[in-house]
Order: sequence, then C-alpha cells, then structure tokens
Amino acid sequence: MAAGRTISRLLGLWLAVSPLAVRAAEIAISCGAIGQEMEFCRSAAERWAAETGNTVEIVSTPNDANQRLALYQQILAARSPDIDVFQIDVVWPGILGYAFEDLTPYVPDAAKAAHFPAAIANDTVGGRLVAMPWFIDIGLLYYRRDLLERYGKPVPETWADLHRTAAEIMAGERDAGRDMWGWVFQARAYEGLTCNALEWVASFGGGTIVDADGAVTIENSSAAAAFDEAGSWIGTIAPEGVLNYAEEEARGVFQSGRAVFMRNWPYAWALANGEGSPVAGKVGVTVLPHGPAGRSAGAMGGAQLAVSRFSRHKAEAVDLVLYLTSAEEQKRRAIEASFNPTIRSLYEDAEVLAANPFYATLGQAFETAVSRPSGVTGVKYNRVSNAFWNSVYEVLAGDTEPAAALADLAERLRRMRGDGW
Ligand code: GLC
Repeated sequence: MAAGRTISRLLGLWLAVSPLAVRAAEIAISCGAIGQEMEFCRSAAERWAAETGNTVEIVSTPNDANQRLALYQQILAARSPDIDVFQIDVVWPGILGYAFEDLTPYVPDAAKAAHFPAAIANDTVGGRLVAMPWFIDIGLLYYRRDLLERYGKPVPETWADLHRTAAEIMAGERDAGRDMWGWVFQARAYEGLTCNALEWVASFGGGTIVDADGAVTIENSSAAAAFDEAGSWIGTIAPEGVLNYAEEEARGVFQSGRAVFMRNWPYAWALANGEGSPVAGKVGVTVLPHGPAGRSAGAMGGAQLAVSRFSRHKAEAVDLVLYLTSAEEQKRRAIEASFNPTIRSLYEDAEVLAANPFYATLGQAFETAVSRPSGVTGVKYNRVSNAFWNSVYEVLAGDTEPAAALADLAERLRRMRGDGW
C-alpha cells in the first residue's frame, strides 16, 4: 500500500513537471494564406510544438478577409472548440472580441510595452486584451524602377502623375511588343477594396467614411473626385480584370513583369525580390500617391492572434500565441518574408533593415496612414465596409456615377448607425 502510494505520488509529481505529459495538447490554429503567410505560420507553430511536446493542426481559411470573418463568426457563435488560436484582422477585435480570452494576465507589462501602443490599443476592447499584435500592414506603391529609369520618369507623387506615367510606359512597352499594364490593385468586391478605396478617398482629403465621432462623412466632393479618378483607370491603365483582383492576383501580374505599378502590402516585397522572381532587383517601394489637395494615405492593416474562449487548451494556446508574436519570431518573419513587426525595436535591427531597404519609407507611410473606421463602428464595422466596397465597386464597374453612389451610401450608413454605432 505504502509503496503504491509513493508510486502514485511520484507519478503525480512527474506529471506535474513533465512538459510532455502535462502539455501534450493538440492546438488548432487558423492562419491566413496570402503570399507566404501559411508557410511561415506552419513552420513556426511546428517548431513550437516540437519544443513543447504539443502538436499543432494548421487550419486553412478563405483568403478574402470578409469570407474568413463569416466563417469565424459561425464557428464562434456555435461556441466550437475546434479552433484554439485565431489569426484575426486588425479590424475585427470589436466584432469578435467577445469570443476571445483576455490575455492581460498572461502578458508581462514589458512584453506589452515592446509593441506599438496603437497596436495594443487596437486589440484592447472594453479593457480586455483580446489578441496579440503579430504584423502590421500598410498600403504601399510598388513600381518598376528599371522602367521608370528607361523612360526617364520620376516616381509619381499624385494620382494624376501615376496615370500619365503608367499610360506612357504601357504604350511604349506595348509598341515594343511586350505585354504590359500600367497599374494593378485590389478592386474585387471585398475588404481589400475597402482598403484601396479608403486610400483614394483619404488621399484626396475626403475623410474616412465615418469620422472619429461616428458621423457619416463620406458624401463630399473630394470623395467624389477620388471615385472619379479611380473609375478612369479601369480598362485604360488597369485591366478590366482588376475588378476581380485581390492581393495575390495583383502580385501575380506585377511579379511576372506585366505591370508598371502595383498597390499592395509589404509582404509582396520579399516575394517580388525572391528567388525566381522575374522582377527581382527591379522593384522600388514608396508611399501611395495623393490627390490634388490631399496627402498620401496608406491603409493600416495587419494581423493579430487571439485565443478562443471555447478552447479546451487555453494555457497551451496562449503559449503558442506568445511564441508566435515574440520578438525572435517577428524578426525571422521580417527578414525572410517582409512581414512588418509590431515590436518597435525591430525597426532599428540591422538585419531587419538590411533585408527590407524600403523600411526607410515606412516611417513616412506610418505618419500619414489611415485607419478604417472599425473602432468607432464596432460590431457594425463589417456592414459599413460591405456597403462602402459595394458602392465603390459599382462606380468602378461603370454602373453608377460617383456623386449618386456616395449620396446613396451615406443614406444607408446613417440608417445603419441609427441612434449610435
Ligand atoms: C491584409 C490586411 C488586412 C486587410 C486585408 C484586406 O490581410 O492585413 O488588414 O483587411 O488585407 O484584403
């Protein structure tokens, strides 16, 4: 008996201290899959699993942000424990935060302070830290340095400059028998179009759809001018097909050498310059153009990692989140895949800077960045965005005039707001 008790006590002790026995959980993590996202998520999560004795399952979800959101909403509304760790968009804490663990008790103050305060603020809903910042996105202008040089053109500063330069180089290249478009971006009817169109509107001085106080501001002449300008690109400097482009379609055209300019997020840098890329070494990155009276405005995007309240393995899930969002892992992702860190000190890291020469431009881009109105519209953000991208889409497709589209949009948004967001 005594021996049996000793053995069971020893076994208990062993269970308590052995990482293998105590922590052998299977953690399911959903990762994005734009560019190298999935590959980098997988390799790091598997490294964590090997180090901790747990296992990971990588769940792939739709690439289009809004389709992924709809899937997450279903999973979380059903209180499903199937996904432990969710990669969420920067605009979703207000929508999904209710279903995530408050990470405050797990994150030491020093670790929190290492991130940009704005990123932590974005992920804090009602005083709860519902996700950890993972990478920051910002809309950037990619250009073919070699082509601008060949045609003796400066990097465009205004949208009108971009239009002219794109048209001229496209015509010249086509005359020489080369397949070339002037400008590619994201104009499919989805969240990415909201980002692009917000950049146009903000850079014309037309505001942010809904302002910081919750007022609907989109019906204004600068926004109409921005819509008008964007409409003039379709079928001229941009292919009609851009109406069905998300990030990866635009990158496909640009990276294969068939476009002069591209709007995309930072991840495209590492791929455009990667092994086997036809445009490696020929690409420049700068801030997006602006309208006649406005200033450049790149949309802020990015990803966070959150732990489901319905997870059956919360401790392990939190551990994985802290591992993936750590400085070491963010550094690896920045160097190898140009994902912008959320940890401030990495912007002074010599290896990170050497891998991403365009980080010199980022300071300027961050200063004039524009955020989608997700904070102020809270749980209704997705409906706001949906209404916005649909009305922009109609203008781009030539179905509506800008002023009429904006009047109709403003009316719908005011109805949506009702007595308050
Ligand atoms: C990127 C951004 C995200 C944005 C999405 C739109 O994933 O990080 O914030 O919503 O693109 O396509």
